[in-house]
Amino acid sequence: MSPSNKSFIPKMGFLFCCLLGHLIFGNVEADTIQTIQKDYFSWRMENEPEYGTYIGRYAFNDRVYSYNISMFEVRRNKTQEFLNRLNAISSNITSSERINFLILKDTFETYINGSKWAWYGALNPMNFLEGIQIFTSAVKASTKSRGDFENYIARLNAIPHQLEEVKERFREAIRLNRTYHNVSIAGVPAMIDQLLVDPLKSNFYSPFNNSLANAANIPETEKPGIRERGLQAVNMTIGAYRSVKDFIINEYIPKTRLQYGVNSLQNGLEYYQACLKWHLSFDMTPEEVHRVGEQEVERIHQEMKMTMKRLNHKGTVKEFFNSPVNNSNFYSNDSDKIITEYKKIVFDRINPKLPQFFKDIPNVPLEIRKMSYDGPGGGYSFATEEYPGVFSINLFRPLEKPFFEFMALSLHEANPGHHLQHSYAMLADLPDYRRHTPFSFYNIPVWFPFYSAYSEGWALYSEYLGVEMGLYKDDYELMGRYSAEILRACRLVVDTGLHYYNWDKQRAIDYMLNYTAYSFEAMENEVNRYITWPGQACAYKIGEIKMKDLRRKAETELGTRFDIRDFHSLILTNGAVPMSLLEMLVNEWIEEVKAGPIVSGGSLVTGSYKWQIFSLLFLFIILQ
Ligand SMILES: *[C@@H]1O[C@H](CO)[C@@H](O)[C@H](O)[C@H]1NC(C)=O
Ligand SMILES: *[C@@H]1O[C@H](CO)[C@@H](O)[C@H](O)[C@H]1NC(C)=O
Ligand SMILES: *[C@@H]1O[C@H](CO)[C@@H](O)[C@H](O)[C@H]1NC(C)=O
Ligand SMILES: *[C@@H]1O[C@H](CO)[C@@H](O)[C@H](O)[C@H]1NC(C)=O
Ligand SMILES: *[C@@H]1O[C@H](CO)[C@@H](O)[C@H](O)[C@H]1NC(C)=O
Ligand SMILES: *[C@@H]1O[C@H](CO)[C@@H](O)[C@H](O)[C@H]1NC(C)=O
Ligand SMILES: *[C@@H]1O[C@H](CO)[C@@H](O)[C@H](O)[C@H]1NC(C)=O
Ligand SMILES: *[C@@H]1O[C@H](CO)[C@@H](O)[C@H](O)[C@H]1NC(C)=O
Ligand SMILES: *[C@@H]1O[C@H](CO)[C@@H](O)[C@H](O)[C@H]1NC(C)=O
Ligand SMILES: *[C@@H]1O[C@H](CO)[C@@H](O)[C@H](O)[C@H]1NC(C)=O
Ligand SMILES: *[C@@H]1O[C@H](CO)[C@@H](O)[C@H](O)[C@H]1NC(C)=O
Repeated sequence: MSPSNKSFIPKMGFLFCCLLGHLIFGNVEADTIQTIQKDYFSWRMENEPEYGTYIGRYAFNDRVYSYNISMFEVRRNKTQEFLNRLNAISSNITSSERINFLILKDTFETYINGSKWAWYGALNPMNFLEGIQIFTSAVKASTKSRGDFENYIARLNAIPHQLEEVKERFREAIRLNRTYHNVSIAGVPAMIDQLLVDPLKSNFYSPFNNSLANAANIPETEKPGIRERGLQAVNMTIGAYRSVKDFIINEYIPKTRLQYGVNSLQNGLEYYQACLKWHLSFDMTPEEVHRVGEQEVERIHQEMKMTMKRLNHKGTVKEFFNSPVNNSNFYSNDSDKIITEYKKIVFDRINPKLPQFFKDIPNVPLEIRKMSYDGPGGGYSFATEEYPGVFSINLFRPLEKPFFEFMALSLHEANPGHHLQHSYAMLADLPDYRRHTPFSFYNIPVWFPFYSAYSEGWALYSEYLGVEMGLYKDDYELMGRYSAEILRACRLVVDTGLHYYNWDKQRAIDYMLNYTAYSFEAMENEVNRYITWPGQACAYKIGEIKMKDLRRKAETELGTRFDIRDFHSLILTNGAVPMSLLEMLVNEWIEEVKAGPIVSGGSLVTGSYKWQIFSLLFLFIILQ
């Protein structure tokens, strides 16, 4: 059966169950963590219909996400309702449910606490990194049956109103003086321009061509009518995008804020701290983050200087990275050769060493490919039951990336970084809401957590682990590693610099250029990102430091009883968790190992792959 007509059936089914539950049986069935998790996930699917489509939940294919300002309160209240239900059963939680209980509680509380800041970043739903001008393919589901086409047309017809809601948010941001700085939005009109084409040529229209022509179960006589209504809907959608573009140029951009930092907003410092807390998943002040950043930058910079000295290089870091450009030992313009090199690194150099550091290694396939679009330097798309994980490499400018940077990137994106991390999470029997966590950044802290300090902290820790694993084969590869690491350390200094210490953009760029290997254009783009997403870029280095601290603590307390493989199992087999919870788990594990003769490592691997089939798209490409 095709996904046709599904839109209506589950909704009715849902209603029917509720009626039965409430009217016929009353509330005889006690609430459990399972019922709350299930209801919460169903609500998320209804609340974020495009995301539902993307992961193959088709019940709301005819709708779009609502940006209506009144939804802030509706969503907050709904989340509060879930939290109340959860709190009501808190005394009934079994030990096997405990971690899910704590994460669910953290999920609801994070959203509710963050809601206080709804009238801040969340009023600005489009920027040069995200928004409805980028995630356009998210509206499309498979179109095979009559019902699919009806749903798709209904969804297209809903977009103009959705864009009115976007404008309404922007207007509120203008009214309250809580707009972006121009750098966050200046690029958006040109992005919208890409969508303003002849409706017949539009990507929105493409299903009405081939898919419709090939739809065998729709009578030929009905197809022209569907096509015509599709064309009208696409035309209207394009018109609505044009109107948003005019609005941004004529009304929004003239009102963009003049200061770079969000501390310039009313109660802006407190807002920045809330953003930091959201991204780090534990408390740390901007001063602390800044200081840690400076210490790390200094430490790594010294390592680089010493390494360059051993290599007899007299110049600056930047000169070091620029000097070997024409040396074919270091660079290649041949994409296939580069991919082969990456394969050797991952499959021949890294993988054989994994068993010394990890146990029960999941056997989830990994592919290494060229990135199909000019995105970040490297990316990882999650494996599913159907598809392998994909480590993709940006080869649009191969001559900018020396071979000696490949090891650090492979450790980060592939193994033991994101791919291995994700493979362990696949084996853990996680509830739906933890397997499917839609990313969103502009509205932080008004969003459900996805714990990037955990996921990015691990990936950066993996780059470090390469040293212990003996994987950096020479000083050049070590320079590649330091180059990647110092970028993340600089982010701590610069993010807090911009949003707490009133740095301007030029100072931020100068700082990045002084310590990193990268170009002005790359660093300007980075700094614009930090200005747009306060606190986001701090998750990587802080998460890594926290993991190293937890490990050091376990090593100190356990001495010879410390087993690195068990420690890594503990970190990986629970999937993404808040750092505060990770700390609790490590502390408990230390006590367990101290107390008992069994050094079992708290491995919680259960069951086999329980992953839903879903298509691999950019939404899941993890940013570097
Ligand atoms: C949200 O909850 C508050 C407090 O219970 C209540 O006053 C308000 O009317 C609710 N709003 C909506 C939209 O349900
Ligand atoms: C706790 O669980 C028991 C057994 O399932 C049930 O009878 C009781 O109502 C539950 N209590 C709460 C507060 O949910
Ligand atoms: C949310 O705020 C409450 C009250 O300030 C606090 O007790 C709780 O720890 C916070 N939860 C999270 C996840 O930040
Ligand atoms: C948002 O919702 C409110 C209340 O339901 C409604 O009055 C308002 O017109 C809506 N705004 C838009 C842009 O649809
Ligand atoms: C926004 O800024 C303007 C100009 O500084 C000021 O007149 C106005 O009162 C501010 N509005 C709010 C809601 O703070
Ligand atoms: C749809 O078909 C028309 C007519 O053949 C063609 O001109 C147009 O380019 C096609 N559009 C897309 C998006 O493929
Ligand atoms: C699209 O809509 C515009 C008005 O916004 C209209 O002038 C034009 O004829 C429409 N084009 C098609 C193909 O329907
Ligand atoms: C915003 O930035 C763009 C591109 O840099 C520039 O052309 C424009 O003048 C700026 N507008 C404002 C209001 O700062
Ligand atoms: C590399 O070689 C090209 C031509 O072979 C030359 O134009 C360029 O300046 C050289 N670059 C460096 C950094 O030496
Ligand atoms: C690298 O390859 C691209 C595309 O194949 C080509 O346009 C470019 O000239 C090459 N550059 C060098 C320095 O060989
Ligand atoms: C650049 O780095 C050097 C070496 O650490 C340092 O002395 C100098 O203060 C830095 N300059 C800036 C602008 O950060």
